[in-house]
Amino acid sequence: MNQRFLLTVNGTSHAVDADPDTPLLYVLRDDLGLNNPHFGCGLAQCGACTVHLDGQAARSCITPISAVGNGEIVTLAGLGTPEKPHPLQMAYIEEQVPQCGYCINGWIMTAAAFLRDKKKPTDAEIRIALEGLKCRCGTHMAILRAVKRAAAAMD
Ligand code: FES
Ligand code: FES
Repeated sequence: MNQRFLLTVNGTSHAVDADPDTPLLYVLRDDLGLNNPHFGCGLAQCGACTVHLDGQAARSCITPISAVGNGEIVTLAGLGTPEKPHPLQMAYIEEQVPQCGYCINGWIMTAAAFLRDKKKPTDAEIRIALEGLKCRCGTHMAILRAVKRAAAAMD
């Protein structure tokens, strides 16, 4: 049975009627029209659906809306603006990372949460932070360059 949930997404409050078991990913995409988080596997295996929930990277495909509570949700659309992009968004452009682009949301949102807490990460620390994310186009080396570039810009 549907219930009403009040969500804060990218600083804006939304009232949503949904079954409590509905994945947050579906609510963001289908109810709120926020299409940055992507459906990849639906099983917490690829990271394409990643958002920030109270500042932590969360896989929205396995996060029921009833588990969000009063948590603050940020999607890739809320990470930066065209006028003031996040350093990772700038670095992705500068390093020309994307190919098909399907995976970008997961890598950037996961890396953004990581870089907020970790200054001057080593290559090994970046690799560990991003393990479990998938890019079928094989852009991994470009992603590593972009994350390092963003880390330097945020230092
Ligand atoms: S769609 Fe959520 S981890 Fe793959
Ligand atoms: S750029 Fe295509 S899946 Fe990563």
